[in-house]
Amino acid sequence: MREPVLRSTPATNDDDRDLRPQHMRDMVGQRDVYARLEIAVDSARKRGDTLGHILFDGPPGLGKTTFATCIPRDLGVACQIASGAVLQAPKDLIPYLTNAEEGSVLFIDEIHRLPKAVEEFLYPAMEDFRIDILLGDGVNARTINMTLRPFTLIGATTRAGLLSAPLRDRFQIREHLDFYSVEELTEIVSRSARKLQMKIDADAAREIASRSRGTPRLANNRLRWVRDYVTSKADGKVTLELAHAALDMQAIDRLGLDGQDRKYLETIVRVFHGGPVGVEAVAHTMNLAIDTLSDEVEPYLLRSGLVIRTPRGRKVTAAGYDHLGLAPENPPDTQRSLFG
Ligand SMILES: Nc1ncnc2c1ncn2[C@@H]1O[C@H](COP(=O)(O)OP(=O)(O)O)[C@@H](O)[C@H]1O
Ligand SMILES: [Mg+2]
Repeated sequence: MREPVLRSTPATNDDDRDLRPQHMRDMVGQRDVYARLEIAVDSARKRGDTLGHILFDGPPGLGKTTFATCIPRDLGVACQIASGAVLQAPKDLIPYLTNAEEGSVLFIDEIHRLPKAVEEFLYPAMEDFRIDILLGDGVNARTINMTLRPFTLIGATTRAGLLSAPLRDRFQIREHLDFYSVEELTEIVSRSARKLQMKIDADAAREIASRSRGTPRLANNRLRWVRDYVTSKADGKVTLELAHAALDMQAIDRLGLDGQDRKYLETIVRVFHGGPVGVEAVAHTMNLAIDTLSDEVEPYLLRSGLVIRTPRGRKVTAAGYDHLGLAPENPPDTQRSLFG
């Protein structure tokens, strides 16, 4: 099988490369997604046909880029990588489309960041493998129609909701990636430890996994930190005790929340009396971008039931108060009376 040509823009710098699985069969978890994609890939390969366009969505660090880069390898085709953040005009996309070999993959990360004009330019490319290029302007303007070789577009986004319906509908396969179980993350930590040639006790691997917010990227980052800690403080083998000490030193708590996650909960509790409060107000108070909060911080807190979304904004739940070691001042189940 041919190794794919990986062309990437600076925005998709890959610092996870050493631990990233190379083939879908090496990926842990996401079994349903894997099973469906495996069938699609296998069938495309057997028919010698181009795989349908695929859209991945889900919070950061759950495997979108990993799936997107494993698929072309499994298909044995070339892969180009671009990012929605840098494709700011149709002309930025043209070289990728015209370079795409027959049956190859074009991966566009952060596809929700494509401006409308670029999205619209993509529609005929995805649907009929052709593009309309506008030459000149005014009375001399003319459109030339260019035929492309059939290719597969793989898009990844943390915000499927921001994609326009026509773009979303042009993906034949849409897959949502969800958080991983502690068992799955334990398997990922153990495999990564082997790749990093670390010795680690089973209970230490599980401890790191259970403090990784359901996210493989965090599990790997925490494992690397524990390795550094153990290399510096001990003789190399990671025990449960050392894993605890290393994670405590980074202020990662027993649910795996870090300082920023707790600050979010504390801000809602202390400044906004537990909510409901709009995400904008919380972001301003914390001096953070709204996108950072809604993409990176909130999904796991919502998923673990520490916060809930209401029509009037976010609210910390009794479990959230409990996690902070506080008694609910304004229990989420009882509405405060306007007159009381
Ligand atoms: N299913 C998986 N099995 C094993 N490792 C994974 C899996 N998903 C993600 N990872 C690890 O987590 C890292 C981050 O995943 P990535 O695909 O870059 O996330 P995303 O693109 O969704 O932000 C990868 O480099 C890889 O090491
Ligand atoms: Mg990614």
